[in-house]
Amino acid sequence: MKKNQFALTFSSTAENVGIARMLIASIGAQLDLSLNDIEELKVVISEAVSNAIIHGYGNRSEELVSLDIKYDEEALRITVRDRGCGISDIEQAMQPAYSSDPERMGLGFVFMQSFMDELNVDSVVAQGTTVTMVKYLNKNNPSTH
Ligand SMILES: Nc1ncnc2c1ncn2[C@@H]1O[C@H](COP(=O)(O)OP(=O)(O)O)[C@@H](O)[C@H]1O
Ligand SMILES: [Mg+2]
Repeated sequence: MKKNQFALTFSSTAENVGIARMLIASIGAQLDLSLNDIEELKVVISEAVSNAIIHGYGNRSEELVSLDIKYDEEALRITVRDRGCGISDIEQAMQPAYSSDPERMGLGFVFMQSFMDELNVDSVVAQGTTVTMVKYLNKNNPSTH
């Protein structure tokens, strides 16, 4: 049974968003996902990692973001964690078009919700935020035994 996992901790800088995107694209290709699915995975990982950097850490680049990627035959799981400011009202934060920054679109969680099969946000004010996203892999490949 194919099963694999990655754990990566990196500095909270914008250029590392691209590295996270490349990593998930490589994993998506290895899993034989469609180009469309890979594009969507790149979007959701960008949104979650950018949120950690921009919102969690207020664009401070000397902090750390942790990324965990795991898959088995059933699902691909992506976890992005920061130890930043946290979210006081998660329900409000996840509303479409809500942003605490008037310059921003407030669509990050919308993309995560619509492109992934599960989205879970855990956050504690002044302690940080953990975003977990799951994509099911066996939709067209039901187990035969
Ligand atoms: N990791 C995080 N740490 C703190 N706040 C966050 C984090 N992720 C999201 N948020 C809050 O949730 C809001 C909505 O996030 P999102 O949908 O990505 O929109 P945007 O990034 O455009 O503001 C953000 O404006 C911010 O207030
Ligand atoms: Mg965002």
